[in-house]
Amino acid sequence: MHIRSLLSERIEAAFTALGLEGQALLQAASRPEFGDYQANGVMAAAKRAGKNPRDVAQQVIDTLDLQGIAKELAIAGPGFINITLAPEFIAQASTTPAHTDNPQCVVVDYSGPNLAKEMHVGHLRSTIIGDCIARVLESLGHRVIRQNHVGDWGTQFGMLLTYMADQGAASGSLSDLENFYRQAKQRFDEDEAFQQRSRQAVVALQSGEPSMLQQWQKFIDISMSHCQELYDRLGIDLTDQNMDGESSYNDDLKNTVDHLAAQNLLTESDGAQCVFLDEFKSKSGEALPVIVQKSDGGFLYSTSDLACLRRRIGDFKADRVLYFVDARQALHFKQVFAVAAAAGISNPAVELVHMPFGTMLGKDNKPFKTRQGALVKLSDLLDEAMSRAGQLLQDRQVQSKNPDIDDAELARLAQTIGIGAVKYADLSKNRTSDYVFDWDQMLSFDGNTAPYLLYAYSRARSIFTRGGINPATLPTQVVSVDEPERRLAVVIAGYQDLLEQVAEEGYPHQLCAYLYELAGRFTQFYEQCPILNSEDEVKTRRLALTKQTGDVLANGLSLLGIGVAERM
Ligand code: ARG
Repeated sequence: MHIRSLLSERIEAAFTALGLEGQALLQAASRPEFGDYQANGVMAAAKRAGKNPRDVAQQVIDTLDLQGIAKELAIAGPGFINITLAPEFIAQASTTPAHTDNPQCVVVDYSGPNLAKEMHVGHLRSTIIGDCIARVLESLGHRVIRQNHVGDWGTQFGMLLTYMADQGAASGSLSDLENFYRQAKQRFDEDEAFQQRSRQAVVALQSGEPSMLQQWQKFIDISMSHCQELYDRLGIDLTDQNMDGESSYNDDLKNTVDHLAAQNLLTESDGAQCVFLDEFKSKSGEALPVIVQKSDGGFLYSTSDLACLRRRIGDFKADRVLYFVDARQALHFKQVFAVAAAAGISNPAVELVHMPFGTMLGKDNKPFKTRQGALVKLSDLLDEAMSRAGQLLQDRQVQSKNPDIDDAELARLAQTIGIGAVKYADLSKNRTSDYVFDWDQMLSFDGNTAPYLLYAYSRARSIFTRGGINPATLPTQVVSVDEPERRLAVVIAGYQDLLEQVAEEGYPHQLCAYLYELAGRFTQFYEQCPILNSEDEVKTRRLALTKQTGDVLANGLSLLGIGVAERM
């Protein structure tokens, strides 16, 4: 149900009826005494009309028709309108997302590791944030095209393939890609002849020499299978099908540059082909080039992203293209989008958005590294997460308290909690800021964490087991009576609005904050409203609210890509 737009429309209609101009500026109330929602737009509207804002607020309330929607309207402070929703209105909410009337084709570009190396913690954010937004969009009925823009082309592969050929049957040594890369790099730095051969290999590869391509494919397959293992462990919806890496644009790079030339956008500068746009100037006002072809004929990262947009807009007919890529690539995307617009590759009807994210930091506030100073391998991080979660379950004596939980279930639980904790810790932080990776915080059962939410979920579920009640027999809509019930139902009713906001803005932490709020209100309800010890309709009503809470928690966690456990 759409609460925000409904309330905004009604308030703005009252503005119009009163001859006022302005927006309702609706917000969720920050404290219970402010009702459920607050309209903050009266002050600006009154100011524009030269009237007293509190008087105007009163007139708006007198004019407003919120029959059956709000049970109370009040003026607060200089002219805020506090709205308390009516129980019969919020009772109509659904616990699963409804499909939009305006489905779009949305390309979500995420993960995109460099296949020359193993995935490290730097890839975590793009992978899980992009995955979450793709799920949210899909749940609302959009057509989502997941794109894994892997780095599978470029000069490093000359070095790697040459080293691979020298090693003979190489696939064994490729099981540790990190090590393999290090050894190849060392040889490259030390051995001039090897360097020479590596450069020739790049030329052979880029000109499509079959034996070289074959070797390359072998390398990519092995490297990609490492990634796939991690995607599976993390529960990420990416497969080979979504892999459209840099190499897949190789055949269109020249066409792309020709297209830019045909649009009169190219200028030669020191032998390189460049696009100069007015919007990109250095501090001293000098024009900055976007280079699309080097003087040796080689193409660049920007060239493949332009070719990529030709496919995404031209072939896929995307309405939106969302790039979940490190904030440090902001200038790159600004340039690519601007060149694409100037060249008619994109058009104003298509929304191109770089959704940047900050860096994951260690406790020392520096980029997260091992003690030896290397980037932490993602597989090592997940191993540690699972072993820490296993230890946590032992410390909480989960198995001795529930003797019927066998070792297999315990291991599954450790996996759900461990992986869920790592993902949730990341997703719950505002993506644009850097954040400190902290094992103790993410595995705590207190605060805005995965264990806290998983526990809230299992508690909502265990009521049915304890009461011997089949939740499917409960009514799907109930009108709340007591205030803790109503406050819980208000949050449940806000789920659809929240998901639409997340789909629009691309911030998973908003979904986390919502689920945390929901779990908090459920806890208050649970403490203040006896459930199994109530009778008749009170019991049914409270059980129905409990079921709805569990359903929204499970749905929300699934959109974050986090599994749930029925008991813990
Ligand atoms: N492979 C790139 C990197 O590691 C990320 C790709 C992002 N997507 C894109 N279309 N450029 O930095």
